[in-house]
Amino acid sequence: SQYQKLRVNPARLLSDLHHTCQWGTGARWGTAPTETGMSRLALSDADRKARDWFVETTKSLGCTITIDEMGSIFAVRPGRKTGAATFAGSHLDTQPSGGRYDGILGVLAGVEMLKVLNENKVETEYPVGVINWTNEEGARFPISMVASGVWADKTPLQTAHNLMEIGGKATQKSELQRIGYLGSTPASHKSMPIAAHFELHIEQGPILEQERRKIGVVLGAQSYRWYTVEVTGRDCHTGTTPLAARADAMLAASKMIVESNRIASSLSGLASTGVLTLTPGSVNTVPGTVRFSLDIRARQDDIVDAIEAEVKASFVQLAQPCSVEIQRDFTSPAIEFDKNCISCIHEAAQSLFTTRTEELTKEMVSGAGHDSVNTNYICPTAMIFIPCKEGVSHNPREYSEPEDCAIGADVLLNSILNYDKL
Ligand code: GLV
Ligand code: MN
Ligand code: MN
Ligand code: MN
Repeated sequence: SQYQKLRVNPARLLSDLHHTCQWGTGARWGTAPTETGMSRLALSDADRKARDWFVETTKSLGCTITIDEMGSIFAVRPGRKTGAATFAGSHLDTQPSGGRYDGILGVLAGVEMLKVLNENKVETEYPVGVINWTNEEGARFPISMVASGVWADKTPLQTAHNLMEIGGKATQKSELQRIGYLGSTPASHKSMPIAAHFELHIEQGPILEQERRKIGVVLGAQSYRWYTVEVTGRDCHTGTTPLAARADAMLAASKMIVESNRIASSLSGLASTGVLTLTPGSVNTVPGTVRFSLDIRARQDDIVDAIEAEVKASFVQLAQPCSVEIQRDFTSPAIEFDKNCISCIHEAAQSLFTTRTEELTKEMVSGAGHDSVNTNYICPTAMIFIPCKEGVSHNPREYSEPEDCAIGADVLLNSILNYDKL
């Protein structure tokens, strides 16, 4: 068909990748700006500038723009018939010390899709579009994939609006207002239906590169949960207080972090602590309060259940003579993507590679969460991965070859066209 001949313009995609990384080069939270690093935290000024570019660009490509109450942006290109659009979706925000691909590649590949459709005067059966989901990372406001979660009825709007930034006083709602992206459309699939959601993303792991493959066809995502652990001991003088008389919250927290790692790995899971706050935070005061984040992941929900149970029991023991409270903040169960969407991706890869498709593609499970995990609760969804250098991500060294970005974008474009024809 005419569709299978459509290809993205690799140079133009690369130029958009270069152009848009001008927003988010500033340092944040003590991380020095680096040559390739991005710090485009959700709802920051840099995020606003990248959003403005996205809105202007998609408008100029003939799209209608909808902004919802969570600030997610939906750019829709009309089709022959009216109805819900098939979208390419991902996110423009980054980690505080992130790279140039995590998130934005999926959005820019969607923009490139619009350009290809326009220049080839393709009329799709139904509308197609591109989405920027607000705050996928959960780095600044600590619920990951939060706006797609609200859209999917997983997270209440109020919870998301009231969510406070780590180390500050701003809320998601106050920042949405401040940067001018508090939209009026209800953040819900009922107001903004999606026919199908496809997301192109870097793998963020080493498998595709190690196996010299070009496309990961993502079958689903692993389970994960986030917790806040608060250890309460007693502030005291570091020089005068004998060990036996101390309730050192940091010492207890350290044991907990080590033990959570041991427990998780013994059950083939992962446990990580990325945020740690010591109070009062003085060299010569033993901290009476320590709070830390805990992120537990595993392939199946029941493994995460088991890790959680063991971790809780051990933390109570290890806290002595302090006390401990463990609060679960966020849950993302293991999911499986839609079979039809997965087939559309396979077909797109086949039409692109024509030979050696088997060797060049791999079915895999995502270790990270993505907005697609949330859209999958409501509408047919699947994801496309491309290799990234040494599997490095959430790091300024994150890198994917321009050729691989273009291959991923080609597969995204053709997957969406395949779905449109179903
Ligand atoms: C989502 O970004 C995650 O933490 O995997
Ligand atoms: Mn991402
Ligand atoms: Mn990320
Ligand atoms: Mn992510």
